[in-house]
Parts: sequence; C-alpha cells; structure tokens
Amino acid sequence: MRKIKEILNKKGKEKITMLTCYDYSFAQILDETGVDIILVGDSLANVILGLEHTKEVSFEEMLNHTKAVSKAVKNALVIADMPYVSYQKNIKDAVYFANQFIQLGKAEGVKIEWFKHCPEVTESLIKNGIPVMGHLGLTPQTVEELGGFKVQGRSKERALEIINQAKILEKIGVFSIVLESIPYKLAKIITETVKVPTIGIGAGWFCDGQVLVLYDLLGIYKKIKPKFVKVYADLSTSIRKAIEMFIQEVKTEKFPTPKESFSLDEEIFKKLLREKDAQMG
Ligand code: KIV
Repeated sequence: MRKIKEILNKKGKEKITMLTCYDYSFAQILDETGVDIILVGDSLANVILGLEHTKEVSFEEMLNHTKAVSKAVKNALVIADMPYVSYQKNIKDAVYFANQFIQLGKAEGVKIEWFKHCPEVTESLIKNGIPVMGHLGLTPQTVEELGGFKVQGRSKERALEIINQAKILEKIGVFSIVLESIPYKLAKIITETVKVPTIGIGAGWFCDGQVLVLYDLLGIYKKIKPKFVKVYADLSTSIRKAIEMFIQEVKTEKFPTPKESFSLDEEIFKKLLREKDAQMG
C-alpha cells in the first residue's frame, strides 16, 4: 500500500511514469531507471505472443509474465493487467483471478478496462482489498463496441460518458485511471475533475502521468504505430545488426575465439588424442 499512496501523492506535484513490461530482464532494467509503475500489460498478446486481439491472452499467460516481472522489481509498483477472460467473460471470477495476480504473481494491484459491469467488478475487487487502476477511453478488449481503434470522446455525448465513468471509478475507489486515445482537452477536464492520478496514452500532456508500451518506445514492435507513440530507440535495427554479425562471424570462423573458449591441460589432451587414434586403429 505504501507504493500506491506514493502514486496518489504525486498528483499535481510530479508527473508519473508507467511502462509495460513482460519479462525478468527488461523488468530489472526498468526498475533500475526509476520508472514509477511497471504494468504487465495485456498488450503482451500482440507484442510477445503475436496474437491479433488482446482478448485472446489467457490468465495463465498473464500470470506467468507477472511472476517473471515481479521477481526482478524492487522499487516500482507492479500492476497486473487483468485479461478479458478473467473478469469480463465471467464477472463472478474476477476477485479469484485478481487475488491470484496478487498472491502468486506478486503484483500490488490490477488494472481493468471499462465495460458494462466495470463498476460492480471494481467495487468487489476493492472491497476485497485489491488496489484497482481503471482504464477509460479506447479500451482494446472491447474495441469492436467502440467502432474500432478510433479516438474516443470527440462527440459531446461520448466525452460526457467518459467523464462520468471517471467519476464513477473515483467514487468506487480506484487509485488511478488510464486514459487512452482521447482528445487532450477532454483529458484535462478529467484530470481536473478527479482526485486520483490520470495516466495517459494518447491523451496529451495534461494527464498526471504517461504510459507507453515498452516495445513501441524501443522500436521493437513495428507492426502498427499509433500517432501517440514516440519511438525513443531503434532496437530492432540494433538487434538485427548484432544477429547478422553473429551469423557472419560463425560462418567465417571468427567466433568463437580462445577468449570465449575453455582450455584443457596439454598432457590430458595428448592422452585423449592417443586414445582416439588407438580406437580408430
Ligand atoms: O496492455 C497495455 O499495454 C495497456 C497500456 C496501453 C495501458 O493497457
């Protein structure tokens, strides 16, 4: 709870940083950089598992990746993104699955996307002592109901709906709200309306914090590039170059060298050679 309180206290004082992460090695690097929140996002369906829809990722897959991330993290707040199957398909099971993310996955909270029964589910999770991060605007798990991957809240009616959803989540007791793909002026109104921090992705600079998908930021996942993504590194080119060098060096026998190899006592080597020659006649 200490880390959750620290996030709440940052509102209006210091911008909050959040990144997605799915494995131990990246989690270690992220944690050392001082990022505030590490989200084991269900975007792993796309960037790790190569699935078309985030809806397709299973609870077991999300739990395994949450365990790997939590193992590496000492400072950041680890949040598990609840996959569709764990709370939208059967709302009765939401508390059970969320508890598994906390107890087995060692996450300190869960994120759920807005859907028809979001208020009831959020309420039952919070009543069971599970910190919840909300997610409004473009909610990829139910993207078909929103007319596809489109900016949300451009009409007055839809904008008022999202504002109202934010108020409902605040009242129920979420500790923060992700705002995805909404106009920055709408994000400003929501950020000024609710007391909990808003964390934007494609929601402009007025939000209390920002989140990006790690593989987008690092230039690893290039299948799609939404307008809101800023690519801070071109790792796919660096990775490709490194692998091409490896292939070239193996083919031309430049790798490995004695530097990367283990030595053997000369006498033992000679004896082994004599035995080999004797065996071969
Ligand atoms: O799964 C994810 O990556 C997310 C972020 C876009 C917030 O939910």
